[in-house]
This record gives sequence, C-alpha cells and structure tokens, in this order.
Amino acid sequence: MGKQQKLKEVPLGAVQAFSETSVDALEVYLPNKNATGNAVLYSGSESGTTGIDYRRLQDVGVQTMLIAVEDLASCEEALERELGNLMLDPTVEPQKKAMCAQQVGVNVARDMLCGGNPAADVDRASGLFDSLLTGMLADPAVATSLLAMSAHHRTTASHLFAVSVLSMMLAQEAFGGNEKQMHDVALAGMLHDLGKTSIDAAILNKVEPLTADEINLIRQHPVESIRLLGGEANVDVNICRMILEHHERYDGMGYPVGVAGDDISIGGRILAITDSFHAMIGRRDYRTALTPVEALRVMRAQVGKQFDPSLFAAWERVLAGGVVSEFKPVLLNDDTDEVGTGYHADHRKAKKKPPVSRRSDRKPIHGQLHMACIATGTLKRNDVVRELSHYPVIDLSRAGACLESIAPMYRGEVVSICLNTGGASQWLRGVVRWCRRNATADHRYRMGVQFMHRLAPEEAHSRHPVVAMMSNQDALMPAG
Ligand SMILES: [Fe+2]
Repeated sequence: MGKQQKLKEVPLGAVQAFSETSVDALEVYLPNKNATGNAVLYSGSESGTTGIDYRRLQDVGVQTMLIAVEDLASCEEALERELGNLMLDPTVEPQKKAMCAQQVGVNVARDMLCGGNPAADVDRASGLFDSLLTGMLADPAVATSLLAMSAHHRTTASHLFAVSVLSMMLAQEAFGGNEKQMHDVALAGMLHDLGKTSIDAAILNKVEPLTADEINLIRQHPVESIRLLGGEANVDVNICRMILEHHERYDGMGYPVGVAGDDISIGGRILAITDSFHAMIGRRDYRTALTPVEALRVMRAQVGKQFDPSLFAAWERVLAGGVVSEFKPVLLNDDTDEVGTGYHADHRKAKKKPPVSRRSDRKPIHGQLHMACIATGTLKRNDVVRELSHYPVIDLSRAGACLESIAPMYRGEVVSICLNTGGASQWLRGVVRWCRRNATADHRYRMGVQFMHRLAPEEAHSRHPVVAMMSNQDALMPAG
C-alpha cells in the first residue's frame, strides 16, 4: 500500500452503495491485514483495479471492508440513501442487510445525540425504519441477524438502535405485524432517551448513590425528550406518548407521571421491556453485564409489577423464536429444579460446561403416541395455520421429543404441546431444534422439539397421549 492511511471498517453494503451512486472511485482495503501488519489495497487507483467483485467477496464470507477515514462520511451517506433498495435486493444476504441497517441506525442515533437538528434526525430515523421494516417483513432472517447483533453493541447510540429493533420485534409478535405500530415504536425507541442529553454525564455515570435532586433530574428525562422534540420535529403524538411513558410501570409506581396498567400506551409498555432488557445485558461503569438468561430471570420477577404480563409473554416468545446463537434456548442443568426458558450468550462458557446428554433418558416409543398438530407458528409469525394432522412421536425424553410429520417445520419455531397424563393435562412450550427429511420414508420429515420446561422424571417414560400441539398464540392456551 502507498501512503499510510487511517482505516475504518464498514459493511460491504456501504461500499457497494457508495460505488453505485458515486463516480469517485473509493480506495477499499481487505478486512484482514497481511503478515507485515499492513492493510491490503483491494480496489483503488493505486491497486490498478477499481472494480469490486461483491459476489465473490460475499461467497468467501467477507462482510466488511476497510476504507480511509476521510471517505467514511460520504460512504455512510450513500449507504443511508440506498438502504431501502438494499433491503429489497434478493442477492444481498440477510446478515449484510442487518449490518448495513445497524450502521445507519447507529449513525442516525449518534447524530441525534449530538443534538444537531432534531427535525432532520427524526426524518432520517423514520426513513431508516421504513426501509428496515420492509427488509424485516420481506425476510425474517434480517430481524434475527439484528437480534444477534443487538447483544454485542454497547455504545449509547447502538443501545438506542437496539431498543428500536427489539421493540419492533416485540410489536410484531404482539400485534401480528401491524406495520404502523412497528414503525412508530421503533422511532420512539430511537428517541426515548433524547432528554438524557440535557443531563450532566457526571450524574448519568455516577457510581455513588444519587442525591434526591439528582434522582428527580433523571426522572424528568422522558419529559425533556418531548421538550427537545416538541419545538422543531414533527413527531406524532402517539410516539410522544410512548417516549413519555417508557419508565412508567404496570403497577403505577413508575415515572414521570405514575400511570398504571392499560392506561400506559402499548408502545410505552413495549419500551419498558426492551429498554430494561438491553440495558441489563450491556455493561455500565457501575456494574457488569448480565447474560440474557440472567436478565430474563430478573425481569420475570417484575412481571405484573414493572412489566405488562401479556407483553412480557410475547417478549419471551421473541427471544425463544430467535434462531440466533446468542439467544439460543439451552438445556437446564440436571442439578437445578428451575423450570423455564434457558438462554446463554456465551459460547465459551457453554463449551466449558457442555449440556448433559439426554440420550440416556430417551426411550423409543414407536407407534405409541401421536401429537395432533392444530396450528404452528412459523418464523413469519402470522402466516400459517396448518390443518389438523397427527404427528407420530418417535421418542420422548425429559428434554424434548422427536416427531414425524408430512410437512417440515422450521428451526426456531415455537410450539406449545399439551401432554395428557392420567386425566391432568400439562402444557409445555418447545422449540424446533432440527428438521430433516426421513431417509426411510419418502415425503416425511423428522423433527426434534426441545422443551423449554422440564418434564418430571416419571412423566418422561410413561405413555402419554399427546393431545395437541398448537401455535405460540397465547389465546389458544388454557387459562393458568
Ligand atoms: Fe430512559
């Protein structure tokens, strides 16, 4: 490489957007440095080539490239302008779409926090979520990629964007993909903590206990957010209400007003969940990050107090349905009695302590059980209600079941199963872990469903007639 450049990593989509919309050739470097520690110029005047083979780079798994810092601003502008087209481009991988949206989201949030021009920033954020919504609805893998990425970004700007994305996903789960609701809650997610920019950072990051005055000041930040937006930005009144109410609690003990229950806007209740969750899994100066499972455990204790119970149930479904490793349901250890969904964020930990093999307690039960499938939810949450059909159960253990079906199910699909044991029915929630064509029977599939709730040891080996497997719609679940 020629002159020494300060380089910055950007998504491949940003480079592509720039080169498609600008006549200027960009100097692009490969993401990995060579043996001498220098970046290798891939394309640019000094390399002798100015073309970029995106397909080939994508095929070999390249997601980001390096560009000179001085080219960053124009490259990011191009990406933001072209995001809508990029989201609809079927040749672009969902992970790349997610990375590009993340890049634009963080840029918009960062500019917003710098307090330049609220009206323009709101328009930019609104455009971003229009594009993102289109991309997410066209391909659910974009959403799951964003869910994975939300676990890794830790700046204030990335927190705002992550809260937006998580809120969109929760709104999608709770309202079956009402696009206006999803867009509005995402925009509110981006703007909800704008008021904190008026508070001294020393107070926000204070490790020692806050004084009563400082607490009062912080408690005014939702009102301050509205004030900052009020003058210039044309923000819908519903969005303002969501922002105002993001620290209200379901039991009425929240702030700044103290409204309770359904009197809090749905968006406010959604933001309360997603903001708390993402704040807990992020590291702060005064505490370490919780793992997603720890955060969920803490939050479960607050259901009905801080959080709306039905929205929280939807939130657990969002995380359980995430087919990304960061939120993958894991087996609970044998030595815990705890019943519930397990999540882990750290593969290294999981490797050190592998899940206990369930092979030993599995019992083949060919031809003895059937599950009647009434409906199943797919990753496109609201589009499939399958006909009633019976699924033979191949085996059943405390951890899960292997079923046979004539239609495939998708990895990550959440199912509810009713086991009828001696007249008493027990409802279990499970996640489809794998599905493959059965080699010995044409046109049939076998799939593994992992239970999120444990069976009692005696239940795993007894012969349960399994009466129903239903979608992840709580309306279909029995009370209690
Ligand atoms: Fe807040």
